[in-house]
Amino acid sequence: MTSEFAVEMRDVVKKFITPEGHEISAVDHVTMQIKNGEFFSMLGSSGCGKTTSLRMVAGFEWTTEGEVFIEGKPMGHIPPFQRKVNTVFQSYALFQHLTVFQNVAFGLEMEHVEKEEIKQRVGRALEMVQLTGMDRRKPKQLSGGQQQRVALARALVKTPEVLLLDEPLGALDLKLRKEMQLELKALQQQLGITFIYVTHDQEEALAMSDRIAVMSHGRVQQIGSPVEVYERPVNKFVADFIGESNFLEGRINSISESEAKVFIHSLNVELIGIPISEGLVNGDEVTVCIRPEKIRIVEEDIPNQNIFCGKVANTVYIGADTHVFVNLYGIKLKVWEQNFISRLHSKLYAVGQDVCLALAPENTLVLKKD
Ligand SMILES: Nc1ncnc2c1ncn2[C@@H]1O[C@H](COP(=O)(O)OP(=O)(O)OP(=O)(O)O)[C@@H](O)[C@H]1O
Ligand SMILES: [Mg+2]
Repeated sequence: MTSEFAVEMRDVVKKFITPEGHEISAVDHVTMQIKNGEFFSMLGSSGCGKTTSLRMVAGFEWTTEGEVFIEGKPMGHIPPFQRKVNTVFQSYALFQHLTVFQNVAFGLEMEHVEKEEIKQRVGRALEMVQLTGMDRRKPKQLSGGQQQRVALARALVKTPEVLLLDEPLGALDLKLRKEMQLELKALQQQLGITFIYVTHDQEEALAMSDRIAVMSHGRVQQIGSPVEVYERPVNKFVADFIGESNFLEGRINSISESEAKVFIHSLNVELIGIPISEGLVNGDEVTVCIRPEKIRIVEEDIPNQNIFCGKVANTVYIGADTHVFVNLYGIKLKVWEQNFISRLHSKLYAVGQDVCLALAPENTLVLKKD
């Protein structure tokens, strides 16, 4: 390996002129470094620049500013077929009139690889995606998941060191999607190929990735492991986009060592012993973020414990959990309680019931106001 990074985007900008004549920055100063053998995801909502970023790595689009490096080499205007990457596109469009074998063999035939070698390599690629024995079928004789695997085999047969995947599971139903997630992840680990995976599905990104780049409006908001982006989001956007959160606006009232007292405006209460990150000072206006599953419903109010009492406003039973909405001094907080006891008739909480909420300091994140 010539470089620590399989792929690097260094301060990349991509501007488009829309047909309406406006200039937009689809990708806005993006820097990311993807390590060899890593499963790296770009996660963000529709239009945030994921596909455009991937297309610049693949060479289907040039950067307006900045540079893409593959194995440490600047790519400039090197065309796609000379880059050591292969792409599985958002819509994977197989050739309908060709068999599975011919679809997978197509790229190799274009490169005039010998017949015998083609046979061996296609066989191996089909084995990887568990489609052995289906090589004579046409795409329409396959299920959606199987067609997706053909698309994958078509990319794998070229033995790329880096595979770019643009929402490859987007067209599949939820159950198949989850199965394919596990299969893809296992395949990636087994082959040791670098995957750059684009998705707008946060659960998918959390389940599969070594690291995730959370994107919005062409910019990277945070890059981190699934645990880092969920447990330590760097701003309100990330905390809101990944998982669910209760947000409370507040002000830092005092700081001693790395703990703070944070006054919550809407509740007119002070949270104490709250760990805070560097860079925050006394008097700063902040957003306090608490995940619904990290709030505990407790029986009684204990002074100086960040316990506050209110009434149950609503409950929603969703099988594994019950979502309890609690009215606290006029503000509604969401609390997810796990249904760890099987029961049929008695509801966990009644509307109007008095309950107290424990907001543990270690579960309370203080974010700089956006
Ligand atoms: N060729 C183009 N000309 C003009 N604007 C474009 C072009 N390609 C993309 N865009 C715009 O750039 C932005 C980013 O598009 P991109 O396809 O990268 O988004 P995405 O994150 O992949 O979204 P999705 O999840 O919907 O696939 C969008 O606002 C889109 O309309
Ligand atoms: Mg896209």
